[in-house]
Amino acid sequence: MPELAYRAVTPDEPIELIARLPALAFGVENDKSAEWFEQRVGRENVRVAVRGEDILGCVGRVPMGLYLGGREVAQLGVLGVAVAPEARGMGVARRMMADCVREMHADGYPLSALYSAMHPLYRSAGYETAGLLLDATIPAGMIEPVGPRMGDDSGWREVTEADLPAIGACYAAYARPIHGMLARTEYIWRRIRESRYGLTRGFLSEDPAGVVDAYCFYVQAAWSETDRRLGTSAGSEMKITDAAWSSPRGFANLLGFLRGFASMVGEIRVTVPPGSPLLLALPDRRYGLRVRDSWMLRVLDVSAALEQRGYPAGLTAELTLEIEDDLIEANSGRWLLRVRDGSCEVTRGGRDEALRCGVREFAAIYTGHAKPAALRGVGRVACDDRTAEVAGTVFGGSQPAMVDMF
Ligand SMILES: CC(C)(COP(=O)(O)OP(=O)(O)OC[C@H]1O[C@@H](n2cnc3c(N)ncnc32)[C@H](O)[C@@H]1OP(=O)(O)O)[C@@H](O)C(=O)NCCC(=O)NCCS
Repeated sequence: MPELAYRAVTPDEPIELIARLPALAFGVENDKSAEWFEQRVGRENVRVAVRGEDILGCVGRVPMGLYLGGREVAQLGVLGVAVAPEARGMGVARRMMADCVREMHADGYPLSALYSAMHPLYRSAGYETAGLLLDATIPAGMIEPVGPRMGDDSGWREVTEADLPAIGACYAAYARPIHGMLARTEYIWRRIRESRYGLTRGFLSEDPAGVVDAYCFYVQAAWSETDRRLGTSAGSEMKITDAAWSSPRGFANLLGFLRGFASMVGEIRVTVPPGSPLLLALPDRRYGLRVRDSWMLRVLDVSAALEQRGYPAGLTAELTLEIEDDLIEANSGRWLLRVRDGSCEVTRGGRDEALRCGVREFAAIYTGHAKPAALRGVGRVACDDRTAEVAGTVFGGSQPAMVDMF
């Protein structure tokens, strides 16, 4: 029997042969799956696991970034992982993901993130849970009216294609300071503008100088007799696929915009960072907040990942890490970190008083999702008290906040 091999998709390869796998895996039609691969993921971002002529598995790896400590770190979002039903349980996905991780490292990416439906698979490739996706449900009538009631111009208008760069700039201004947010590329923006929840509308607010200071993309769900929502006789739901602001005026304007839907919309659903000003603006606690999902991170290049992210301003610290990585040998061993002025200088070597852990534990610590002292308490990292505390200060701060799924 031929060996299992991992390779890129060739330019003339019929995409249908590959699209069959996600179609079968995620329960969608073959042509929808083919369109998704070709139009959204991009053929150049797809890899396959093959045995001879047979395509047994596929994986997409889409360039995007993560804002960490106020800086953008490049990463590849892994998605569309699928193995043909007839080939499952034979180790195809495990070997494909290991090859994919090695390739992403060789391509020079410091990080890779994904949403996992099977943790043991991704853990075997060095990923670990590194952040949460939070869903808020807000009664629309609970949002306090903000802004002039009798003004001639609310500042809001419907989004056109020409506005997309300005919307991207508004998002970047909003998201960059929020630890853990995605630095989005077109794949994510298409998910926002052409949501699978239904017809997506987009509105934006412009300040007097013509700068976009807030925007909102949303789907207003059809009225349903059987699924009535609290707070309104009509009871429909507004699913915000994305909203952001870049100034206090923009934020106030967004609240006023949302309040304008309260006569028809019972509940507004939106993914939020922890501590979102949107929730802080509500008059009481009658909103829902739940963890919808968690995301995993693979540190592909320890040194680049450490150097590219930002660190707490005003912190000067020295820390030694001793990492073990079975898949990417170049990550293993000791690293000396010198943190100063929000940056980190990384060299080989360091002290005996190191934080010792596997590359998976490091992923959870690196984003600030897990505290080193907590992982030490269950035997997943080894270090003395002081090192645990220093590492917690260097990487901690706030829980990483991702609001996009992919
Ligand atoms: C998830 C999927 C890609 C796994 O592919 P696969 O080739 O069957 O997986 P592997 O045989 O390489 O197994 C890898 C690991 O996954 C886990 N796993 C695989 N099949 C499993 C099963 N039926 N039940 C529980 N765990 C399983 C095991 O931990 C396994 O590791 P092990 O062999 O050391 O026990 C495949 O089942 C699939 O396409 N499912 C539908 C789509 C999907 O869920 N994609 C993932 C989206 S994030």
